[in-house]
Amino acid sequence: MIDPFGREVSYLRVSVTDRCDFRCTYCMAENMTFLPKKEVLSLEELEAITATFIRKGVRKVRLTGGEPLVRKGIMTLINNLGMYLQSGELDELTLTTNGSQLSRYANSLYAAGVRRINVSLDTLDPERFARITRWGKLDKVLDGLQAAQDAGLKIKLNTVAVRGINDQELSDMVAWAGDRKMDITFIETMPMGEIDELRSDRFLSLREVRETLSKDWNLSDIDFKTGGPADYVQVAETGQKVGFITPLSHNFCESCNRVRLTCTGMLYMCLGQNDNADLRKVLRSENGLSLLDAAIDEAIGRKPKGHDFVIDRSRDHIPAVARHMSVTGG
Ligand code: 5AD
Ligand code: SF4
Repeated sequence: MIDPFGREVSYLRVSVTDRCDFRCTYCMAENMTFLPKKEVLSLEELEAITATFIRKGVRKVRLTGGEPLVRKGIMTLINNLGMYLQSGELDELTLTTNGSQLSRYANSLYAAGVRRINVSLDTLDPERFARITRWGKLDKVLDGLQAAQDAGLKIKLNTVAVRGINDQELSDMVAWAGDRKMDITFIETMPMGEIDELRSDRFLSLREVRETLSKDWNLSDIDFKTGGPADYVQVAETGQKVGFITPLSHNFCESCNRVRLTCTGMLYMCLGQNDNADLRKVLRSENGLSLLDAAIDEAIGRKPKGHDFVIDRSRDHIPAVARHMSVTGG
């Protein structure tokens, strides 16, 4: 699948649920309305659409949410998708999780063929963790991380840099991750969906973060690219990589290789744009499965060049896109 700008689409991200057991302040409002169940694709439907993408050339699938591991029966989907790893049709099956359920799922994930996961962790301080996630317990996530490493899963931490919350701690997190042989990627907050605070108060530029980190660490630019949006540096002292995802201060769209499927079957060709394709409607129509191919081709043909995120005071109450990150899964 090649888009109008010559980019090959080989990576599908699937949000399997918009629900989450946390309510991170930069991500969600405390009082969220989630989708009615009938609008959400069944696990079979999610699998059918994903399988079509794999047949059309997708080599990497990432499950996201919301929190993917709170979806009932999720291991059935993961096990079934794992078969495409065995047959060589898929290179990687992975997920992005908040870690709360990892103690329970780590071994099954490994058995299904998952080898690496991204775990969101914004702080190592229990009280701060409770403040950021509102409903989360740090202990549970740390136990989950340990269980994942014990099971043989490689871990990358995703840390959203939030001004006035975890800015003083980011250097310690690099040390903590380094000690445990985890990579870590910092992320700038993106204006997605309505939340209860002002985004401009919380936005922290990663240029600033990088400067702060350079005081404690010897960082060198490396030419490491995962096909994703992060720029990486090598930390001489720990040997680990630190990534920076800077959607606002730096545009990363030129090398975009991905599309995103929501749990209602909407295909978003860009995280920061509203244009989408309703694959649920196609799939649920007569002979739907046979129509999917053409619907996907048509959608890829509309993949936009890039996003245009901005966070400034004049637009504080108008997110760039109305949907929350938990809908399209980051
Ligand atoms: N901006 C930036 N990152 C976000 N995340 C969730 N909402 C936002 C936002 N508005 C992060 C999560 C997770 C990843 C999937 O996206 O913390 O690490
Ligand atoms: Fe849940 Fe992730 Fe959003 Fe936090 S950032 S509320 S863990 S979906």
